[in-house]
Amino acid sequence: MIIAIPKESLSGERRVAGSVEIVKKLTAFGFSVSVEKGAGLEAAITDDDFKAVGASIGKDIETTLKSADVVLKIQRPSAAEIKLMKKGAVVCAHLSALTEGQDIEAMAKAGLTAFAMELMPRISRAQSMDILSSQSNLAGYKSVLDACSEYGSAMPMMMTAAGTIAPAKVFIMGVGVAGLQAIATAKRLGAVVTATDVRPATREQVESLGGKFLTVDADMEKDAETVGGYAKQMPPEYFEKQKQVVSEHIKKQDIVITTALIPGRKAPTLVTKEMVASMNTGSVIIDMAVEAGGNVEGAKLGKIVKSRNGVKIVGHDNVPSRLPKDASQLFAKNLLNFLTPHVDQEAKTINFDWEDETVSGTLVCKDGKVVHPRLTGEGS
Ligand code: NAI
Repeated sequence: MIIAIPKESLSGERRVAGSVEIVKKLTAFGFSVSVEKGAGLEAAITDDDFKAVGASIGKDIETTLKSADVVLKIQRPSAAEIKLMKKGAVVCAHLSALTEGQDIEAMAKAGLTAFAMELMPRISRAQSMDILSSQSNLAGYKSVLDACSEYGSAMPMMMTAAGTIAPAKVFIMGVGVAGLQAIATAKRLGAVVTATDVRPATREQVESLGGKFLTVDADMEKDAETVGGYAKQMPPEYFEKQKQVVSEHIKKQDIVITTALIPGRKAPTLVTKEMVASMNTGSVIIDMAVEAGGNVEGAKLGKIVKSRNGVKIVGHDNVPSRLPKDASQLFAKNLLNFLTPHVDQEAKTINFDWEDETVSGTLVCKDGKVVHPRLTGEGS
């Protein structure tokens, strides 16, 4: 069985879906691993590092993909890459399946078996396979560092002979995996941290990290979480209330980091133009939801925008890719953890247990058809 790890083709993508650790494991299972030349360079893994653990180096994308039985990728394959894969090949990647249905159709048509790793069910057993968690955690950390470098003041309180510097006030909106890591990072840097979320369970998590929780409407938040652990789409009345509460709070903040997402939908607008206009010159807003439409009015994907009153709105694209080394290691490990239970070591092959929740929950196409209930309209 041949497992291929191509170089990512999307512009700006610096991660790779392989690591020395996972290639070592895959070769130990008896698989042949083919890594495209230079695939790991941006993530600080050389071709020699991969060779040293038993991989062969494919000279180009065509050579790497053409005989692969399993393709491990970060981003969903492009049309050109799909063409190079053989019928029946398995693809594991972040496929953005809920928003890029046409690409899933294309993979189905090409006879590929594809797993959208972002649809991994939120069950304890699957935590180690969860690419959203592993990447969001790093992105949450990086967002605070990005904010620091755009902010013209220090984060901690400093008492110096020349005077006292006040600590930065940091407000985190959305306390999922990224938000929690952002709180922890900002606290470690000495900031005064507040946070808010629609899911009431997050209050305790915020407080346990030393942050202060900002409640919007405890009554409406009672029913804000899906069984899967995600936020529900909130009613318009909630957003009105949130607007009032946040408007008052945000005026006094130096750094705001927004991370609010609703899977498969446009991100909710949490910071309006008026709120931006009420903030002090030199404040910084990091919109981590910018790829999903943004939480902040005026945020632009891949840009740092300065508002009229001098507030910087940062909309970095693909934040995990800004920490390519760690992000690749964790992503690759998630993929290995997903595949390992299905490895038949004796036969040196992978026999998926189609009944397994991690398999059925992520499988989007097989045998020429799109099969995931959320894509065929049979599930929510
Ligand atoms: P996410 O990335 O989908 O959303 C980020 C945060 O934004 C969430 O906390 C959400 O509640 C919040 N949000 C959405 N709309 C909002 C609004 N209008 N106002 C304020 N906040 C809003 O969420 P993420 O990070 O993927 O985590 C969701 C939950 O899943 C967490 O409780 C996490 O601990 C849990 N989880 C469980 C896993 C497992 O058991 N395998 C793995 C990963 C996460």
